[in-house]
Amino acid sequence: VKRVGLILKDCEFNQFMENNATKETGRKFCCHDLSHVIDVARVAYTLFLEKILLQEDYGFSAHFSKAQAKEIVYAAGLLHDIGRWCEYETGEDHARAGGLLAQPILTRAGFEIAEQEIIIRAIKEHRKNIEENSFLGQILYRADKFVRLCNYCSAKDECYKLDSMETAREILIY
Ligand SMILES: [Fe+2]
Repeated sequence: VKRVGLILKDCEFNQFMENNATKETGRKFCCHDLSHVIDVARVAYTLFLEKILLQEDYGFSAHFSKAQAKEIVYAAGLLHDIGRWCEYETGEDHARAGGLLAQPILTRAGFEIAEQEIIIRAIKEHRKNIEENSFLGQILYRADKFVRLCNYCSAKDECYKLDSMETAREILIY
């Protein structure tokens, strides 16, 4: 997981996470900080391992070693919300913005073009659960929902996303 360590140390990655924190100061709803993206990376990897365990089709991993596949999943988790601050600034979809911002970080961390394409596509897809999503896009979407403790949240009653969060969990858990 050497390359994942390089992402965590990357100047731009840290700058984007800091931008998110600045834009979300005082926000009562879910934030998109380092602990969120690490949670998503871990849960995404668990979902990936489950696919392997169940011997279901697990998309991209056939083309990469297990170590590479782990880095691909972690990289997607860590980078999936780096464009969030752009959405606060310009209204641009943060998944799209994040996909564009991720490319130089992935290059610096040593990810090959084929790996970058899988990761960037998944970042761009992570907001919507649609059939056309790639395998990693689906995993990111699910992980992003599973890590939020909606039932214990003090802003639950005012949350603009609660319905979709609950629906997603009900559909996806089993
Ligand atoms: Fe997101």
